[in-house]
Amino acid sequence: MDDDGAILTDRTGLLAPGAAPTARPALGRPLELSIIVPTFNERDSVAELSARLDAALSGIAWEVVFVDDDSPDGTLDVLAALARSDGRVRYIHRIGRRGLSSAVIEGVLSTNAPYVAVMDADLQHDEHALPAMLAQLRTGLADIAVGSRYVAGGGIETWDRGRVKASRLATRAAGLLARAQLSDPMSGFFMVTRPAFMSGVRQLSGQGFKILLDLLASTQAPLRVVEVPYTFRCRAHGESKLDSLVVWEYGVMLLDKAVGHLLPVRFLMFIVVGGLGVFVHMAVLAALHAQLSFLAAQGLAAVVAMTFNFFVNNTLTYRDRRLKGVWALTRGLFAFYAVCAVGAVANVGIANFLFQAENHALTAGNWFVSGAAGILVGAVWNYAASSVFTWRKG
Ligand code: GDD
Ligand code: MN
Repeated sequence: MDDDGAILTDRTGLLAPGAAPTARPALGRPLELSIIVPTFNERDSVAELSARLDAALSGIAWEVVFVDDDSPDGTLDVLAALARSDGRVRYIHRIGRRGLSSAVIEGVLSTNAPYVAVMDADLQHDEHALPAMLAQLRTGLADIAVGSRYVAGGGIETWDRGRVKASRLATRAAGLLARAQLSDPMSGFFMVTRPAFMSGVRQLSGQGFKILLDLLASTQAPLRVVEVPYTFRCRAHGESKLDSLVVWEYGVMLLDKAVGHLLPVRFLMFIVVGGLGVFVHMAVLAALHAQLSFLAAQGLAAVVAMTFNFFVNNTLTYRDRRLKGVWALTRGLFAFYAVCAVGAVANVGIANFLFQAENHALTAGNWFVSGAAGILVGAVWNYAASSVFTWRKG
């Protein structure tokens, strides 16, 4: 660069104050590798990650695409500055959305690179494994290279015993779906060819954070997998976004892959929760019917059961849309009561109609079939209406 065209960047790649935005010179050869990095509150890691990629990927035509879900910690300011000073850094800013898997999918769809890697921003994944992954895919003998903590040469720096156990268990469950012998199907660190990713992209569930497993279970033809060892490092800054309920999300995803094409898993969950609600109702009734009038005890039991169902559905069934804060919860709870009340009227009305209808040979005079049909109608209504009135999308 000559004097007046100097690139005014400091070591972190941030622009010096007052500097005109200058992009790095184009590499002059086609992009080969795109690294997709989902971020949420990773302010202190993204510049360091870019610098490490630069060091580890010399000789490779690469870019990095950060996909940030509107982090409140200022990550986006850092990303903007990085992208201004280095043309190989791009980012996608998503608003009103959350989710590691969906972030990864959108990142991959935003690039044309023939090879796409996915890695965490928090420096836990070892960037030195990337060239080895790329070399494996370039042979054409594999569709996907997975960074593995469990093959020889890989490992975990320090994890408490609980997490190691949970991870191993989830790994075993995953083996059933992955259609490949994989030592680390839970890995969030992998590289895939573009055609392989595209062959499964429309079938991806996109829920939760197990994008690798989702992909392996979604392609029509099983992917050819190789594993590349690496050591999972400790997080340097910030904190993990994965809380204990991600295990639940993971189970839901497995179930969705297994039966989701027949019946929506969310509906199944809603029904199971409703079934638990019946037990709650009967327990309350058993405890109170001696003290109160039957009507009062039955009414109270119904309210307790509905309240129970509301909170369980809010935590599990509608986890991705869960209501938080006193106001949202109160509003949602009363909307849920109202939906259930209409559902109960529909249930009783339909059941009674079928029981009375003389031209319905199957149901007329049959309390069991009529009653079950009423319950089904009520349940479908409750499910459909509560997903509109209680747990609204977006
Ligand atoms: N855009 C976006 N949206 N990014 C997110 C979100 C989100 O809702 N949640 C997490 N991330 C980003 C984080 O900023 C980080 O870069 C990466 O996704 C992984 O999140 P962590 O919170 O660091 O996850 P972890 O370290 O507990 O789990 C990692 O290891 C697991 C293996 O045990 C991940 O790599 C998992 O995918 C992996 O299975
Ligand atoms: Mn992490």
